[in-house]
Amino acid sequence: MPLVTSKEMFAKAYNGGYAIGAFNVNNMEIVQGITEACKEEHAPVILQVSKGARAYANHTYLVKLVEAAVIECPDIPIVLHLDHGPDFETCKSCIDGGFTSVMIDASSKPFDENIEITRRVVEYAHEHGVVVEAELGTLSGIEDEVKVAEGCASYTRPEEVEEFVTRTGCDSLAIAIGTSHGAYKFKPGTKPQLRFDVLHECEKRLPGFPIVLHGSSSVPQEYVTMINENGGAMPGAIGVPEDQLREAARSAVCKINIDSDLRLAMTGTIRKFFNEHPDKFDPREYLKPARANIKELVRHKLRDVLGCSGKA
Ligand code: G3H
Ligand code: 13P
Ligand code: ZN
Repeated sequence: MPLVTSKEMFAKAYNGGYAIGAFNVNNMEIVQGITEACKEEHAPVILQVSKGARAYANHTYLVKLVEAAVIECPDIPIVLHLDHGPDFETCKSCIDGGFTSVMIDASSKPFDENIEITRRVVEYAHEHGVVVEAELGTLSGIEDEVKVAEGCASYTRPEEVEEFVTRTGCDSLAIAIGTSHGAYKFKPGTKPQLRFDVLHECEKRLPGFPIVLHGSSSVPQEYVTMINENGGAMPGAIGVPEDQLREAARSAVCKINIDSDLRLAMTGTIRKFFNEHPDKFDPREYLKPARANIKELVRHKLRDVLGCSGKA
């Protein structure tokens, strides 16, 4: 099947009590690792591309890699999504260039300005059959090129969500409930806890409407240790506990964003390979196990965290 939008995927996920994995892609091995797992697990998937990914790999290369995955995985629905679109022009360029979904992230702007920018993107996207994710509330960590300091992050205000969705016409909404981008989400020694009360308040005010969670890597300690034991230095890297992500996936959360975990799997595997084989220099030899570990990591997410195995 050709690339799809997330409309039907989200309706099924909402009613079925599971979430779709939205994985960031930056190169061929990452696309392959993710989609091979989804193909074997018969799981729908969102492949997402950030502004940084477009700058790194080039828009056309990324689109063609995703189109290759569509050919290789004819039986599963695949969405090509712009992650954290910073402005109308970037969203337009992706809509014109083959994406089926875009995020406009104007969450750092005042409420009315966020609505205005989002509404403009929605208008253009809907004219072209593309769906739009917007964001209310800010996550700490790095939102593409905008670094949000820890103290400046703010939870989504549930009393704002209905007006925001009605006035913008967006198709899904990313909310801030305590997740953050990157590999250092919580202070070591503290108990990580998402604000499910905020999520449930938003959910109540938007019946049937898909909610999105960014910053949802669980930062597997297996890979943090692998990195630290093979020349890396990532002390105190901590992610969102998987049981909390599972709980979120059963609610109105229909899309869960994961990037850092893929980076950890890839980096840990390559570091270990280099450490064990200082004589090797063929990139295929170290990218192959890196791709295989991304595949197994994604399989675990689909089965045990998102609950979307077999839902394609
Ligand atoms: O939310 C951010 C994603 O992890 C993308 O990161 O902007 O470094 O590609 P990036
Ligand atoms: P992580 O850094 O937790 O993987 O979040 C990724 C993300 O939200 C991409 O938009
Ligand atoms: Zn994000």
